[in-house]
Amino acid sequence: MKAIGVEPGAGRPRLLDVPRPEPDEGEVLVRTLRVGVDGTDHEVIAGNHGSPPAGEDRLVLGHEAVGVVEDPNGTGFARGDVVVPTVRRPPPSGPNDYFERGAADMAPPEATVERGIDGAHGFMSEYFSSPAEYLLSLPSDLAEWGFLVEPISISEKALELAAASRSSFEWDPETALVLGNGSLGLVTVAMLVDDFEVYCLGRRDRSDPTVGILERLGATYVDSRETPVSDVPEAHEPADLVYEATGYAKHAFESVDALAPAGVVALLGVPEPWTFEIDGGRLHKDLVMGNKAIVGSVNSGPTHFRAAIERLDGFPSWFLDAFVTTVAPLESFESAFERTDGTIKTAVAFDSL
Ligand code: NAP
Ligand code: BGC
Ligand code: ZN
Repeated sequence: MKAIGVEPGAGRPRLLDVPRPEPDEGEVLVRTLRVGVDGTDHEVIAGNHGSPPAGEDRLVLGHEAVGVVEDPNGTGFARGDVVVPTVRRPPPSGPNDYFERGAADMAPPEATVERGIDGAHGFMSEYFSSPAEYLLSLPSDLAEWGFLVEPISISEKALELAAASRSSFEWDPETALVLGNGSLGLVTVAMLVDDFEVYCLGRRDRSDPTVGILERLGATYVDSRETPVSDVPEAHEPADLVYEATGYAKHAFESVDALAPAGVVALLGVPEPWTFEIDGGRLHKDLVMGNKAIVGSVNSGPTHFRAAIERLDGFPSWFLDAFVTTVAPLESFESAFERTDGTIKTAVAFDSL
């Protein structure tokens, strides 16, 4: 069967011919419908993040998938069920405490592998198999957009962790600053606009389509070339919540300046090593005297996937149509990996329902 994979360092994905999976006991065979592409895929393709399975020289890409059950193989699923897989699986050494507690998303990198990213093949193939416990059912009317469940779940988790860090008092956040108008930033703006006054920071001209979308959602665009993160409170207002989705390492620290007292920063980006100077003393003091918090958040678990399915169902259809700019058929999968001016969220379509 056909798959899309990458050899580390090759810099671009290519079509592979791989055997169709034979599901083991407890595993389901899934016919792939669509698989999304995000910044992490580009980092994997560039050779900056992740790796193929141990002993292999190439990785089948794809971690944002939706598919339809081809062979339930004696599990509780039925042929034809629409499903979305989670990303993390036990490492080659076997399940550990994190998996046994149902908290794989809280595991450190060495205690897990990630399908399509790190140490395990992904879902960009005509069929994939997965233990039933790592699949969630999706209403079939959402199948077309199901590849968005995983990225939305990432933000569901990060927002939960951020709120949990403020749970010792009645936190009543009103203002959110989302850093990054890429696919993760923009979908998070869509999640926040009902409950927050939202600012979204990017570095593109106002003619960029993401600016039109975030303004139509009711958010305010901030151009980081004119207003650096640290200046947002003066130019606009301090933020109770900063959600970082740029992967630009300085933002982790500048965000503290952008916070209102008792605010929280959620860091999502996965930057490269980068040495730069910061005033650590001022930062430390501001965090303490302002009761501010910084939380890092990676991956997501089944509860976040379930919340994401509900969230997806509530998104206006105009947003989905504008946000997903490319759904490339397998024959021209390359266009799902191109980053042109108009590109926002892309996916590869392997099949339809
Ligand atoms: P993306 O599409 O590459 O988006 C990143 C966005 O940040 C781009 O729009 C980029 O602008 C913008 N940006 C970068 N530096 C900036 C700066 N200095 N000022 C203003 N804007 C800046 O990637 P994504 O899929 O949205 O993901 C965002 C980050 O989150 C990536 O690092 C990814 O690895 C990470 N991520 C983490 C998780 C997790 O579980 N923690 C999950 C998914 C993604 P331009 O396009 O104009 O350059
Ligand atoms: C994926 C997560 C993964 C993270 C780190 C993100 O793009 O959506 O599932 O844990 O990258 O590899
Ligand atoms: Zn991702």
